[in-house]
Amino acid sequence: MPVQSRPVVLITGSSRGIGAETARIVSRELGARTVINYRDKAKRAENVVAEIAAAGGEAVAVRADVTDAASVTAMVEQIKATWGRLDVLVLNASGGMERGADAGYALRLNRDAQVDLVRAALPLMPSGSRVVFVTSHQAHFHGRQPGIEAYEAVAASKRAGEDALRAMIPELTALGIDLIVVSGDMIAGTITVTLLDRAHPGVVAARRDQAGEIPTLEEFATQVAAAVRADHATGHTVYVGGADYLVAR
Ligand SMILES: NC(=O)c1ccc[n+]([C@@H]2O[C@H](COP(=O)([O-])OP(=O)(O)OC[C@H]3O[C@@H](n4cnc5c(N)ncnc54)[C@H](OP(=O)(O)O)[C@@H]3O)[C@@H](O)[C@H]2O)c1
Repeated sequence: MPVQSRPVVLITGSSRGIGAETARIVSRELGARTVINYRDKAKRAENVVAEIAAAGGEAVAVRADVTDAASVTAMVEQIKATWGRLDVLVLNASGGMERGADAGYALRLNRDAQVDLVRAALPLMPSGSRVVFVTSHQAHFHGRQPGIEAYEAVAASKRAGEDALRAMIPELTALGIDLIVVSGDMIAGTITVTLLDRAHPGVVAARRDQAGEIPTLEEFATQVAAAVRADHATGHTVYVGGADYLVAR
């Protein structure tokens, strides 16, 4: 686990939602120097940076589409030039349900881009650093638990991403880097869940009926932030909400 004080933390897709909230927490609680990665919403990312700065923290916004190798290289170069190291890489950015996305996009983003970003970041990550992969129970338990049709391609691709990252554990361990997975139930207050409910009206109410309450965005982000420094063995999975998934496992 990271021993560095004021660790340098890159959180992909952190201009909004769970990523942005995780950035606020690691900045506030760990004094992290935080990279707010965004794809194209510069203003939103700059607002997160400004909030962190106003609270006495330090963050920079860096544009990069993680599916684009050149922009990933440029982001890693920028982190190197700014802070010279990367202590924690939080793989939060996700997608695949975007309008106009081709059939292979979910796999390119949720599997290939995750692995490629880890590989690109490794030269900046000293022994003792950590990769945190953020996923959903729908993806983590893909093939073992019933899923939601509109989310099927994303779930399958995120599971493939988790498998590909886990396959890197021996290589990461040799470098002194560990991998922690944080998997969450449906998260109240996220845009993803709003869109899912639009595609399948009633799906969130049905989940609440089944699970009792579902975690809030703040609760989930708190657990992602905790995984940045918690004393877990590499490969550990942190489960947030969805006790019924765990019982059925
Ligand atoms: N929402 C849930 O219910 C839930 C439940 C369990 C786990 N999770 C996991 O939590 C994480 C965050 O979820 P969320 O609901 O907060 O997601 P979200 O609101 O959809 O945000 C995803 C972020 O990823 C960014 N992103 C997408 N494609 C990208 C790309 N190619 N390159 C760089 N950034 C990209 C987006 O940037 P733009 O704004 O520029 O598009 C956005 O900031 C995901 O890994 C998700 O699987 C979510």
